[in-house]
Amino acid sequence: MSSISIRTLQTLKDKGEKFSVLTAYDATFAQLAADAGIEALLVGDSLGMVLQGRDSTLPVTLEEMVYHTAAVARGNARAARPALIMTDLPFMTYGDIETGVASARAVMQAGAHMVKVEGDDWLVPLVESLSRQGVPVCAHLGLTPQSVNKFGGYRVQGREEEKADAMVAHAVALADAGADIILLECVPSPLAKRITEAVTVPVVGIGAGADTDAQVLVCYDMLGLNTGHIPKFVKNYMTDGRTVPEALKTYADDVRAGTFPGPEHGFDA
Ligand code: KIV
Repeated sequence: MSSISIRTLQTLKDKGEKFSVLTAYDATFAQLAADAGIEALLVGDSLGMVLQGRDSTLPVTLEEMVYHTAAVARGNARAARPALIMTDLPFMTYGDIETGVASARAVMQAGAHMVKVEGDDWLVPLVESLSRQGVPVCAHLGLTPQSVNKFGGYRVQGREEEKADAMVAHAVALADAGADIILLECVPSPLAKRITEAVTVPVVGIGAGADTDAQVLVCYDMLGLNTGHIPKFVKNYMTDGRTVPEALKTYADDVRAGTFPGPEHGFDA
């Protein structure tokens, strides 16, 4: 079976078929997740919190993202159908085009197939530049954890009409600039549906309801490896005596069938 590419994901959206994304930080997990049928692996800077025990994603470095991307790429390459790998550019490593391009080069050369950046329409020039240089981009909107200090906490975004309208406009601007995926975190389910209908590229959601084209979860959360607050959008798949490979496959199957997330995992307007 051939590897998953952005064309595969775009075709799934065009056909109205849902796909799953999961964070991965190491080789073994990457291979297991790809073999379970998960279409895309996110080397998320959430690794700062779940692997390194930090309070936020802000201290994660580019070198750490390169290290984990290379590990994920090695494991993924051993899967029967390798997944698409997207890697977060960490905090303050893409504030201007030159720095962003250098950061993207580092993770792409480590094995990523796409970079993920957090922000709104201020990212348009960077997305245009990366896109022109052949780098696929995922633009992360809504609750963008690198801005936790600006938000004053991890809160649902886009509840006010004006902010919801702005988020739709930002998603359209980023897709027009060349973003290949839009990722929405912790936004009201009706707003996520609006954005999913407004752009032609796939929209991945986390805490964004059931109407996005795809879902993403942090792997530790869906494996029940959670020591603190469990966010509303999380489902623990390590129930009913499942093994890890069975839990991964059940997650992928549930997303594909549209049975995860349920209404209890989303946020109202
Ligand atoms: O870093 C990460 O894992 C993420 C997901 C929560 C979407 O950005």
